[in-house]
Amino acid sequence: MHYDAEMEKWIEDKINDMTLDEKIGFIHGAALFKNKGIDRLGIQALVMSDGPCGVRFDHKDDEWVQIDEPLCYVSWLPSGTAIASTWNEDIAMSLGEVLGNEACGRGKHVILAPGINIVRTPLCGRNFEYMSEDPYLAGKIAAAEIKGVQSKDVAVCVKHFALNNQEKERMSVDVRIDDRTLHELYLPAFKMAIEEGGAYSVMCSYNKINGLYASENPILLSDILKNGWKYDGAVISDWGAVHSTAEAALAGTDLEMSVTNNFDEYFFADSLKDAVRSGEIEENVLDDKVARILRLQKRIMLYDGGRNKGGYNLPEHHAVMLDAAREGVVLLKNDRGILPLDADKCRTIAVIGDAAVRKLAHGGGSSEIKPLFEITPLMGINMVTGSRTVVKYAKGYYVDNEEHVVGEVDWQANSLDASDGSRCEAAGMDDDSKEFESDGADKADADKLINGEKPISIDKLRRQYLEEAVALAEECDAVIFVGGLNRAYDTEGFDRTSYELPYNQGEVINALLKANPNTVVSILSGSAVDMTPFEKNAPAIIWNSMNGMQAGFALAEVIFGDVNPSGKLPISFPFRLSDCPAHSVGEYPGTYDGDGGITCSYSEGIYVGYRHYSTRGVDVLFPFGHGLSYTTFEYGNIKASRCEDEDSFEVAFEITNTGSVFGKEVAEIYVTAHNPVVDRPALELKGFKKVGLEPGECRSVAIKLDRKAFEYYSVSDGTFRADSGKYTISVGRSVNDLRVSCDLIF
Ligand code: BGC
Repeated sequence: MHYDAEMEKWIEDKINDMTLDEKIGFIHGAALFKNKGIDRLGIQALVMSDGPCGVRFDHKDDEWVQIDEPLCYVSWLPSGTAIASTWNEDIAMSLGEVLGNEACGRGKHVILAPGINIVRTPLCGRNFEYMSEDPYLAGKIAAAEIKGVQSKDVAVCVKHFALNNQEKERMSVDVRIDDRTLHELYLPAFKMAIEEGGAYSVMCSYNKINGLYASENPILLSDILKNGWKYDGAVISDWGAVHSTAEAALAGTDLEMSVTNNFDEYFFADSLKDAVRSGEIEENVLDDKVARILRLQKRIMLYDGGRNKGGYNLPEHHAVMLDAAREGVVLLKNDRGILPLDADKCRTIAVIGDAAVRKLAHGGGSSEIKPLFEITPLMGINMVTGSRTVVKYAKGYYVDNEEHVVGEVDWQANSLDASDGSRCEAAGMDDDSKEFESDGADKADADKLINGEKPISIDKLRRQYLEEAVALAEECDAVIFVGGLNRAYDTEGFDRTSYELPYNQGEVINALLKANPNTVVSILSGSAVDMTPFEKNAPAIIWNSMNGMQAGFALAEVIFGDVNPSGKLPISFPFRLSDCPAHSVGEYPGTYDGDGGITCSYSEGIYVGYRHYSTRGVDVLFPFGHGLSYTTFEYGNIKASRCEDEDSFEVAFEITNTGSVFGKEVAEIYVTAHNPVVDRPALELKGFKKVGLEPGECRSVAIKLDRKAFEYYSVSDGTFRADSGKYTISVGRSVNDLRVSCDLIF
């Protein structure tokens, strides 16, 4: 990152003036989201806040109790997978600007976002916060978002570095990974976040990597991040991720944060002071940590005047949320041109599904926020159709785990006692209780919902909900089913236990399709879910990740054709879980040893997501990069020419809108190496570009592929290599729908 001699001098002078106690106070939590400032020297405490989906509400300094209730309503951003579904760096940048401005307006210095771990299994509860199974897409979108945030004088904290790819056993799982897989698949998005995005801070994760916790892993934090990538920002621990004093301090963790309020007992508190006093650790180790935090503070203009003032819930912020939500909607299937629905011709519309009325912003763990408003799909459909149609609603499926869906008010509070790090258990939501199998009698006793006093079984409730929905579907001109996951499943701290859609939704969807063939299925989920039970029967399917405060409105605009969908999948939807490489090699969640430890070997290597499916010829239901439009696009005239700098190529091609409406198209560029010296995936995403085209319009698009586009990580020399030879460049609409290609000699 840019070296600023004047700033470094200022930092050095401040450190020279600090006592050991002051330095110690500056490098560990002195509150749940703050370290300790140094008034005497005019040094402010570093004020942090979650998280990726907006600025989280505030807590008391020493208790997980919410404060400032009336002030904390903010804009709710689309989650990571939703942002990545736009495949639009400009949108990501604008969202970042909003996030930064709102964080600034709420008095924060650091926003604990974005989350960019690679989506390795569809079961990971936190996939919704992450971006993609592909490091290039995740890295590009993250870098743009980071630039946006930091342009508003707020630092990002990119998380979770690294390999936090599952929530199950996230505190203890030891990820065993080879160098190539680490460098080629799991680290590049972080590297791009730092080198392209310029991230001012990084959060180290809970898990272990090859035997050592991330927070005390010198290979990860010092050799790779700080020395290898020349990163001069701060490493902040995940909350409770530090397990040692000297090891973590020497490995490269700079600021220890945690969930408990015994701040002086943190590893980087009294115990680190003792280690310095006894000579076990040199004081200049602390100085470097202090310098990194001060550097961050200087970069966000904390000491120079003229810092952005920020603001939140500004009307222009909500407009950005709408643009983003519109571009994040992915049309997966549209047979018979059933979509868009014509509101003028549908006299009555049945909206079916709990997800049509479910609010999602508050829940799911640390990314929870309180949005100023949240437009549900049912609201959006009513808003868009106006007086043209009569919209009727039925729940369709019975949600039998409401307590998990709504989540705890202060779930982090319950982790205060979790000194062994098992926050999930402390939160009273252990794995068993997340199985959610409806166990008839017990739960039914609590469900006197429908028959007044008389308890009825869950099966009966399900039947009643289903019958009511089918009856409504039969009487209406069209049906919009809105289902998917909710906060019991798209959540921090837990993974799903099954790929299936919960609450017998498959059965409900099939019954609706039978009752009314004019049924549109919309699935809202932060991860891939199994759509095979109904996919063949459904003429139209839409997918959306958690899409922010305007989600319901944007979805309705797409359904009724006010917006032409342009989102593309940032993840693959396999037919079955066993097709997913982590599962096919039997490495999820890992193997327990006799002492409660767990090891997960990423033995599928770099073959994650489409890298596996396309190389090994495994069919998927919906491929990476897939997304339909209401118009059609044609590709042509592809050409690759060497740039003057010799190491790069310009790939030029044309896209024409051959349909009759305006549409945006994402051109995806994949690279294939011929006769590679090491095993390489059949296709790797190395570029993309979103363009808007009027009907009949033809546009030339040129994309530069630099050396990195041809590289792989060479284990023998520990660096990235690009071998000379022949490569095919393919451009298309998804990894399985390549339209034009050409060869080049690198
Ligand atoms: C999460 C982080 C979050 C932190 C602070 C942890 O449980 O893993 O992503 O930023 O809590 O709330």
